[in-house]
Parts: sequence; C-alpha cells; structure tokens
Amino acid sequence: MEELVEHGKIGAWGVSNFDVDDMEELWRIPDGQHCQVNQVLYHPASRGIEFNLLPWMRSHDVALMAYCPLAQAGSLRRGLFSSPELTAVAQRHEATVPQVILAWDVRDGHTVAIPKSCTPEHARENAAAANIQLDTEDLALIDKAWPAPSRKVPLDIQ
Ligand SMILES: NC(=O)c1ccc[n+]([C@@H]2O[C@H](COP(=O)([O-])OP(=O)(O)OC[C@H]3O[C@@H](n4cnc5c(N)ncnc54)[C@H](OP(=O)(O)O)[C@@H]3O)[C@@H](O)[C@H]2O)c1
Repeated sequence: MEELVEHGKIGAWGVSNFDVDDMEELWRIPDGQHCQVNQVLYHPASRGIEFNLLPWMRSHDVALMAYCPLAQAGSLRRGLFSSPELTAVAQRHEATVPQVILAWDVRDGHTVAIPKSCTPEHARENAAAANIQLDTEDLALIDKAWPAPSRKVPLDIQ
C-alpha cells in the first residue's frame, strides 16, 4: 500500500474488519499508522464498535467507513425497517426509514456510509439522506430501540 502511494497510484489506504487488537497490531508495524480508514459493519442495530473500536479510531484519527449501513435492507436484523421508533423519526423528517438509518450512520460527521443499490430510485433516496440532521429527540428514540453497547461484543462481520 505504501508503495502504491509512493508511485502515485493511490492517495491513501485503509483496512476492513479490523477490531481494536488488529488496529493495535497495525500501529506497531512500519508505516501502519498511515492507515486512514477502517471499513466495518455499522447500522443502528449493530453498534458494538461504539464500545471501544470507534473511540480507539477517533483517538488515532482513523475514519469509519460503515458497510451494510442499511443492514442489507433490514435483512440482517429482523424488525429494523419496520421499527416503530425509526418510523416515528422518519415521519418527523418527512423522510423514509432507510434515509433515517443512513442519517444516523453518519451523524457524527466523521463517518462515510456505503449503501449499495441497484435501484436508481433507492440511490436517489439514499443520496438525499445527506440533508437530514437528526436531533437529540430522534437519537434518544433510536437509542431506546437499539441501545449503545455497555460491554465489548465481538466485531459483527458480514
Ligand atoms: N468489507 C466487508 O467485509 C464488507 C462486507 C459486506 C459488504 N461490504 C460492502 O458494503 C456495501 C454495502 O453492503 P450491502 O450491499 O451488503 O448492504 P446494504 O448497503 O446495507 O444493503 C443493500 C440492500 O439494501 C437495498 N437498498 C438500498 N437502498 C435502499 C432503499 N433506499 N430502500 C430500500 N432498500 C434499499 C438494496 O436493494 P436495491 O439494490 O434494490 O436498492 C440492497 O438489497 C457494498 O459496497 C459491499 O461491498 C463490505
């Protein structure tokens, strides 16, 4: 990766599915600290990384790239797309549940979400989610349905 940067082939590089111990190991190898991003699974019903991986990444300036940010259209977590809390937040913003999920994924301003869509209408809908700003009431509702982790949980990998 460092050679590719040197030759101008890429601007920067990152890793995927690295938990804290993997990041610490990376930090110990030459140029490992040049890692810019860690791509991990993240959506409202999979928040395990908030316990210690995300704080570690924040303190070491590694960006989060959220994959499966829509939980594969809810199929990874039964009830996500029909959650009354997400539906209520969507109604408050005259938005859709997928848009609220994406707005939640990137709510800290330091996260990139990479939803996949083969449906042009969905792609447009997802892009428009960038205009949604969730407030504390929205976040509290979502926390109620899908609480932040209170202990270390294994990295969710798809
Ligand atoms: N690093 C890794 O280990 C890893 C693992 C898994 C995935 N990924 C990457 O993460 C990205 C996304 O992951 P993913 O495709 O598994 O999950 P995802 O983006 O959470 O979900 C994709 C599914 O959501 C549907 N969808 C998208 N927008 C929607 C909308 N507005 N309303 C309703 N349904 C909607 C899509 O259907 P339509 O096509 O019909 O819109 C598709 O079925 C991909 O680039 C993938 O390569 C990385």
